Amino acid sequence: MSKNNKDIIVGIDVGSSNVRTIIAQQLREEQQPRIIGISSVPSFGIRRGVIIDVEDVTKSISESLELAERMAGVSVKNAVLNIGGCDIEFQNSKGVIAVGRADGEVTEDDINRVITEAQAVPLPMNKEIVHVIVRKYRLDDKDNIKDPLDMKGVRLEAETLLIESANTNIKNISKCLYQTNIEIDDLVLEPLAAAKSTLSKKQKELGVVLINIGGGTTSLAVYEEGDLVHTAILPVGAGHVTNDIAIGLRTSVEVAEKIKLEYGSALSKEVDKKEGIDLSQIDSQEEGIVSRHHVAEIIEARLEEIFSLVRKELKEIGKDQLLPSGAVLVGGGAKLVHLPELAKEILGLPVQIGFPLGLGGVMDKVDDPSFATVAGLVLWEQEKYVSQKDGFMGFKSFNSLARPAGDTVSKMGSWLKKFLP
Ligand SMILES: Nc1ncnc2c1ncn2[C@@H]1O[C@H](COP(=O)(O)OP(=O)(O)OP(=O)(O)O)[C@@H](O)[C@H]1O
Ligand SMILES: [Mg+2]
Repeated sequence: MSKNNKDIIVGIDVGSSNVRTIIAQQLREEQQPRIIGISSVPSFGIRRGVIIDVEDVTKSISESLELAERMAGVSVKNAVLNIGGCDIEFQNSKGVIAVGRADGEVTEDDINRVITEAQAVPLPMNKEIVHVIVRKYRLDDKDNIKDPLDMKGVRLEAETLLIESANTNIKNISKCLYQTNIEIDDLVLEPLAAAKSTLSKKQKELGVVLINIGGGTTSLAVYEEGDLVHTAILPVGAGHVTNDIAIGLRTSVEVAEKIKLEYGSALSKEVDKKEGIDLSQIDSQEEGIVSRHHVAEIIEARLEEIFSLVRKELKEIGKDQLLPSGAVLVGGGAKLVHLPELAKEILGLPVQIGFPLGLGGVMDKVDDPSFATVAGLVLWEQEKYVSQKDGFMGFKSFNSLARPAGDTVSKMGSWLKKFLP
């Protein structure tokens, strides 16, 4: 355990199908965090991104952490986690403050105060703010300001969008981490984390939708002119495809999963109608031959539903077929054969698979769309890892970071502590 924990960034993606951990080291002389430990284990106790059994989830997290710790040779004390669940809500709000300094120059403290002020709103029952997106600032009569730092004025306003999640989710994830003896650095909404590691600045500038197809959920994040304009988590994912196969073929879920992974295709027209799958080759308990074309039809039907739901979301925000950088698919579900072609047909957009970028070190395992979220969690935290004037590098908390408009920030800090048992 020789490494200095001050340089260590840890992301844990607690998903409906898998728990993934990345332990990264941020060396002073390197730009990118270097992966030194990585793991992926099946998860238990999570349904559709929501914790339903704290004990089971705690066990899955411990198992994933232990594997990554052993590889990295460090003992983890803090981590950034994702937050899923389909019950996120949005609220527009506004903060107004008087600029603090006598000469009217806007400081980081003013910006932090106005963002805090914008969060002083009545919250829906059982909800908690997880992210604050600053849409724009206004300083006296100057509107549409991206970054008011060092400008001069009297009255500073911030227009924000608040993203809220069920506080039972936050409470349960806090409980799991408390039992694992890990402190939570930050909680990040899954699609925002996945977008962080896979979308380029240019794609976000032109207009793009990230679609993360997980086991129990499909989440999306839409960006335009560099800013997040919409995000949603839908209660259907690639696990539903497996269940459909199990029901359609009357096999166990385990066999259906193997069929999906080994013989699945998102496009039935690409599969020869005469091709058969011998079930006894997959599991000695099973028998009979099933049509591979029929399996593809089952898969295609469910994925059509998923992409139609995504398209509906895009229609609702007036962005249907209007995103020049198209769709970027991530998550384990994105690995299905012929998925980009099907997505392209249904969304009417250019489609590509997203791979995590921006990390160094042991990269081979991470070069995979299902590692987008956990890689994004590490990068999210790394952004707070700043080089200070005296050369000392350390983590800054959200409250000491002034943010330009368009940036998405976690509502982090002491508020998480109230969820600890
Ligand atoms: N090679 C593959 N081909 C097709 N599907 C795959 C492949 N690998 C994984 N999957 C599917 O991806 C799904 C799991 O994806 P992922 O690990 O991203 O989910 P998760 O993050 O645990 O879940 P969620 O984000 O919904 O909480 C499973 O349904 C699995 O069958
Ligand atoms: Mg996931």
